[in-house]
Amino acid sequence: MGENSSAMDFHHLGIATHDVEATAERFCALLDCAVAHSERFDGIAIRFLELDGGYLELLEPLTHDALSRFLDRRGPGVHHVGFATTDIDRALARALEHGVELIDDSPRPGAWGHEVAFLHPDSTGGVLIEFVAPADESG
Ligand code: CO
Repeated sequence: MGENSSAMDFHHLGIATHDVEATAERFCALLDCAVAHSERFDGIAIRFLELDGGYLELLEPLTHDALSRFLDRRGPGVHHVGFATTDIDRALARALEHGVELIDDSPRPGAWGHEVAFLHPDSTGGVLIEFVAPADESG
C-alpha cells in the first residue's frame, strides 16, 4: 500500500462461469484454496474462494439476465474486479469527481452481506469495477 494509506484494498476477482461447482473444484485444486462462502443471490450461484490477499468470486447465472448475456457474448472468464472500502459513498463521490459514470448511485446489498456499488466499464478502461464494503466474512 506504500505511503498512501487511504488506497483501497483489492478484495476479489469476479469470474463468470457456466458451472460454479466444477469451476470451484478446478480452482481449489489448482490453487490449493477452499470455498469460504456459498450463496444463491439475485439469481446467481456464487462461490467465494479464499486466497492469500483476496478472493475469487465465481458467478453462475441461474436467472440473472445480464450475467447470462455476458456469458453468451464473451464466454466464461474475468467479469469484474472488487475493491474494498469502508465508505462506498465517499468512493462513489470521488469517482464522480473524476467523471466516472456510475452504475449504482448508492450502495446496495450484495452477496455475503456486503454493500456494493458498480462503476460503468466505459469509464474505467473496459474494466467493470465493484466497490465492496465487506461485512463479517467468517462464513
Ligand atoms: Co463481486
